[in-house]
Amino acid sequence: MKIPKLQIGSLSASIPIVQGGMGVRVSLAPLAAAVANQGGIGTISSIGLGDIKASADEYVRTAKEALANEIRKAKSLTDGHLAINFMGVLSNINDLIKISVKEGIKIIAFGAGLPTKLPALVPDPSVNLVPIVSCARAAGLILRTWDRRYNRITDALILEGPLAGGHLGFSAEQLEHIEDFSLEKLLPEVLEVIKPYEDKYGKKIPVITAGGIYDGKDIARMLSLGASGVQMGTRFVCTEECNVSQQFKQAYLDAREEDIVIIKSPVGMPGRAIHNKFLKDLEVKGKLKITCPYRCLTVCKIETAKYCIALALLNSYFGDVDNGLIFCGQNAHRVDKIVTVKELIDELLSELKEA
Ligand SMILES: Cc1cc2nc3c(=O)[nH]c(=O)nc-3n(C[C@H](O)[C@H](O)[C@H](O)COP(=O)(O)O)c2cc1C
Repeated sequence: MKIPKLQIGSLSASIPIVQGGMGVRVSLAPLAAAVANQGGIGTISSIGLGDIKASADEYVRTAKEALANEIRKAKSLTDGHLAINFMGVLSNINDLIKISVKEGIKIIAFGAGLPTKLPALVPDPSVNLVPIVSCARAAGLILRTWDRRYNRITDALILEGPLAGGHLGFSAEQLEHIEDFSLEKLLPEVLEVIKPYEDKYGKKIPVITAGGIYDGKDIARMLSLGASGVQMGTRFVCTEECNVSQQFKQAYLDAREEDIVIIKSPVGMPGRAIHNKFLKDLEVKGKLKITCPYRCLTVCKIETAKYCIALALLNSYFGDVDNGLIFCGQNAHRVDKIVTVKELIDELLSELKEA
């Protein structure tokens, strides 16, 4: 079997694998560049970057500079395809998107919110706009709005199902019936919704599926169902190039299936994480003390938030996992070794060929 390329606008990745954006600091330049060097698309997360002390005084400037530096670093490591991941709930999102475009980024992945005004912010047609959605309705809404307002459609879509890591675009109730929202069910619905727009504009909208995709067999299944590529997060955490602490990776290696839980996040969406001391303490205390110099999220209310999610994720990144939140996908319990990105991608591709 020939490995299909993933075409997004005028960009062509030689393998149909996107490494998903993972905040806070889980997907930085070394990981994204390593994936891009293997022919995939590497994504840097724009969230939670920069010197923490400097951020307390000058959050907006520090965050912007840190993202620019991360992009420059990645570009010094690869000539391959790089994307930046943004969450719609970030208070400084417009700034971060603008700096990414200025630094030459050609793929903007936008999740946790509907990017209805994104084409106005990024009118340059050479920059590929890729919303992340969890249902056909959201895909249809974005396409309808962009078509009417901007005479433009999305350059690709990432369809993230309920098995993904990090924040999830499903309600707590929906997550109790995960089987009703499988990618196998969602993908045909999305393909149907996008069809009239593909016909009208005479171009394909590649759909990249994400969430629970673990091996080459999974990739083959997604491609056979009509996906143009897959986005994977969890598998890339336990790679040598991923910048998180050894303790973070060890928590993945140690996790059992029953340790992987759904949490309520201050972002206002459910998330998937490893049930650890931090989450147990939170259950006992109800609320942790918060001081917030950043105001990094538009949706986080300091009076009612149970903890600072930026700090909790940073703690895990630095290795203090007992006081930190460890986001992961549903399949994290299956990861049993740390490998290089090349080893992982070689394994995925040989499984894909076999499947
Ligand atoms: C540790 C972690 C952090 C994540 N952070 C983000 C994020 O900041 N923004 C986002 O859009 N998706 C985030 N995700 C989702 C991934 O980009 C990806 O779509 C998802 O994890 C795919 O599912 P998988 O982990 O089963 O492969 C995160 C996932 C993980 C595991």
